[in-house]
Amino acid sequence: WIATLAGWCGAYLLGSIPTAYLAGRMYGLDIRERGSKSVGATNALRVLGKAPALVVLLVDVLKGAAAIVLVRWLCSQLFAHPLFGAPPTLDEQVWTPWAVGVAGLAALLGHSRSVWLKFSGGKSVATGLGVVLALSWPVALGALALFGAVTAVSRRVSLGSISAALAATLLILGLEHPTPYRLLVVAGAAYVIVRHRENIRRLIAGTEPRIGQSLGR
Ligand code: G3P
Repeated sequence: WIATLAGWCGAYLLGSIPTAYLAGRMYGLDIRERGSKSVGATNALRVLGKAPALVVLLVDVLKGAAAIVLVRWLCSQLFAHPLFGAPPTLDEQVWTPWAVGVAGLAALLGHSRSVWLKFSGGKSVATGLGVVLALSWPVALGALALFGAVTAVSRRVSLGSISAALAATLLILGLEHPTPYRLLVVAGAAYVIVRHRENIRRLIAGTEPRIGQSLGR
């Protein structure tokens, strides 16, 4: 339990790395005060430009995937070398997917409620993609394909992100996956959509900016 808890804290801290904030600081500005104020790749694109946004995107995806890899590795070590030489009391096959599922949620939470940013942050889309990539690449690729198509047609990243969250939910439920992974993706997708509530309001009002447009405020 203690080792797994440490893994979850590690996953949260990985998610907490405020990539877009740090990128903004390198340009001498606080991304939390610009554009949508979101600490993520889309706002980095809006406020900082293409190259920094691409770096933010890649790092944010990587930290999500790293959180899963970390806890998976920890579980494998834990069961291979039980603490204090005691025999493992839990079944590795049962425990690992649950530990990994919680780690995914911890990484999402870390990204949007970063301990370094007074528990504010981004909308957990890129980090969520990293988490899902490490869990199930077919689900990740399906969600990414829909994201690309919707974003390209609508020119609105938020609409692409919401569509991708819905696609990931349908795919994880439709394909063969362990229950903890399903719960993680359903809860994570719901969380991502809730994080987009401002965007949803603007989409309904027709005021959500297209890629390249600034936010009218
Ligand atoms: O990934 C976040 C994106 O869907 C929306 O970002 O900055 O336009 O609110 P933003």
